[in-house]
Amino acid sequence: MGQLIRFGVSIEPKLLTDFDKLINKKGYANRSEAIRDLIRSELVDFKCKSGSEETIGTITIVYNHEVRDLSDKLTHLQHNYHGFIISTLHVHLDEHNCLEVLVVKGKGDKVKKIADELIGTKGVKHGKLTMTTTGRDLT
Ligand code: NI
Repeated sequence: MGQLIRFGVSIEPKLLTDFDKLINKKGYANRSEAIRDLIRSELVDFKCKSGSEETIGTITIVYNHEVRDLSDKLTHLQHNYHGFIISTLHVHLDEHNCLEVLVVKGKGDKVKKIADELIGTKGVKHGKLTMTTTGRDLT
């Protein structure tokens, strides 16, 4: 950790009590570390929502591989975006269901578009996009 700056915050007692309970449950060593994490989280969220900043997305989808043409469609889509998809993980959950996790790198808008197309493909049972930072520019 580099140079630190101390600053004062005015806050209602109840809000602070609730915050202390929360960070205690989450296992934070102190308020400062919890507040730093909250700030980082907001910065990452803002960056992801801006759409034009470089982000990392993890897209998780669950589907039945026996649905006609579904596996082919999903593979075709992924090949369309091969330049953005860094890695994929495929798990055969049972006889019918598959789980795929894709790690995608690109501008926020692009990552969302890829996720929307995959998750929106007919036959995909569930899908979720989680966006985060590349880690650059974040202390
Ligand atoms: Ni499978």
